[in-house]
Amino acid sequence: MLEFILNDKKVVTNLPSGSLLVDFIRHEQHLSGTKIGCREGDCGACTVLAGTVKNGQMDYQQIPSCLTPIGNIEGKHVVTIEGLNMDELSPVQQHLVDESGTQCGFCTPGFVVSLSQYCLSAQAPTDDQALASISGNICRCTGYKPIERAAAKVTQSLAEKNQQQPISWLVENHFLPAYFNEIPERLAELAPKNKKEFGQTQFVGGGTDLYVQKHEALVTQNLDFAVHHSELRFIKVEDGVCTLGASTTVTDLLETPAFAQLFPDLTKHLKLVSSAMIRNVSTLAGNFVNASPIGDMTAFFLALNAQITLQKNQHKRTIFLKDFYKGYKDLDLNQHEIITEIIFNIPFGKFNFEKVSKRTHLDIASVNSAASIIVKDNHIQQIHLAAGGIGPIPTYLENTCNYLINKELSPKTIVQANAIMQEEISPISDVRGSVSYKRLLLRQLFFAHFIELFPEQFSISDFVPVHSSRS
Ligand SMILES: Cc1cc2nc3c(=O)[nH]c(=O)nc-3n(C[C@H](O)[C@H](O)[C@H](O)COP(=O)(O)OP(=O)(O)OC[C@H]3O[C@@H](n4cnc5c(N)ncnc54)[C@H](O)[C@@H]3O)c2cc1C
Ligand code: FES
Ligand code: FES
Repeated sequence: MLEFILNDKKVVTNLPSGSLLVDFIRHEQHLSGTKIGCREGDCGACTVLAGTVKNGQMDYQQIPSCLTPIGNIEGKHVVTIEGLNMDELSPVQQHLVDESGTQCGFCTPGFVVSLSQYCLSAQAPTDDQALASISGNICRCTGYKPIERAAAKVTQSLAEKNQQQPISWLVENHFLPAYFNEIPERLAELAPKNKKEFGQTQFVGGGTDLYVQKHEALVTQNLDFAVHHSELRFIKVEDGVCTLGASTTVTDLLETPAFAQLFPDLTKHLKLVSSAMIRNVSTLAGNFVNASPIGDMTAFFLALNAQITLQKNQHKRTIFLKDFYKGYKDLDLNQHEIITEIIFNIPFGKFNFEKVSKRTHLDIASVNSAASIIVKDNHIQQIHLAAGGIGPIPTYLENTCNYLINKELSPKTIVQANAIMQEEISPISDVRGSVSYKRLLLRQLFFAHFIELFPEQFSISDFVPVHSSRS
């Protein structure tokens, strides 16, 4: 039996915990405002909110109901477009109407839900935050400019928002129905669901990989959900070490000041990873175990020379992430073994992440790369380099790193290192590019690391001939 609150109503269901939330909402609850577009997390038509109590306040995030098993929302508050409707349109809805932000209307519930999450967010309202909230919502009709104008108007309407008591302010100002005020107390009445032991079952993180691959098979399978193991979701920075629970989400990284302080460009880097909605649910361990050669968070943590702790029953072992990958989708992972922790040392020096994809946002990489570098007296003291899309596995560029250690930080060194790197990789031609294109991309991303991290020392003309346009 599984319990959660759906809009203003408590729901108790005996359906299998692997059933998809979108099907539950539409077919069991007959709430047809939530739409089905792609069923792959790409379009945002199925967006709903999931709310939990965090640090004594309600925390709402937009999630893709088409990839979310109901086991993952147990004990939470789920909000569909029907749960946001009132007698009159909310400012979010009204601004979309006034700015012609809706035409056929298929995407509109998703946009309203995501913009409502933006209103509920604890962060100060800005135009950038408004647009970030709808980064996973696609519209085939409006051309986006009307939606962007509506989003800017929403930001203006929030100018007086009480950041300490956002929900009561939003209720008073008719952004939300009044029942939102009672949700924390009502959630507290639901049974806590934390489990201690890992089951001998299929483990589910955010489900954003699993439910794209095999959602029908998962419905009837016996599943263990990461959300029921709160001990796997934490970030700790102390004594020169950062330790993260394996179920930490990409959004958690952004929202944890202790982590964000380690990476001055974190927002810029992580904006390149999927969309707000996918980042809210996808876990680090899910990215590692998915073993995609272009996994962004895998490249990120490979470049920190991270280690992972694996556990089966009471047996624990710790290995380097770079040793986890043995071949294409072939991992050093035993059956029912769980990643519990990710660990890396501080300081790691300067850090950079680069990604090229066919679209800048909401797309997987053609090639990605990350680097951490410590330089002393203009010599490279420590360097870790990772790349994806250039071989069958997410790759730690061991030979290139070994070459660079103790070398002078100069254009000559970097150009020579590129020659070694090109020997070390084995890209294949596929839909994301030819072999020569991927080699060229990695070369450019490699040079970009040094230009980004040492702008006073390097520019692109140090590495490749730059042709000036004729006047
Ligand atoms: C629309 C969309 C956009 C995407 N964009 C990107 C992108 O830009 N970059 C990118 O890198 N990826 C992207 N992805 C892929 C995916 O979101 C990520 O790989 C994500 O991190 C997977 O995490 P998850 O928690 O959802 O994994 P799940 O689907 O829950 O699990 C994936 C695998 O990991 C296993 N697993 C999960 N946790 C553990 C654990 N603790 N121990 C052992 N095994 C575990 C599961 O059993 C499963 O085999 C995208 C996916 C979608 C749907
Ligand atoms: S239906 Fe497209 S994201 Fe869910
Ligand atoms: S209004 Fe038609 S898809 Fe957006």
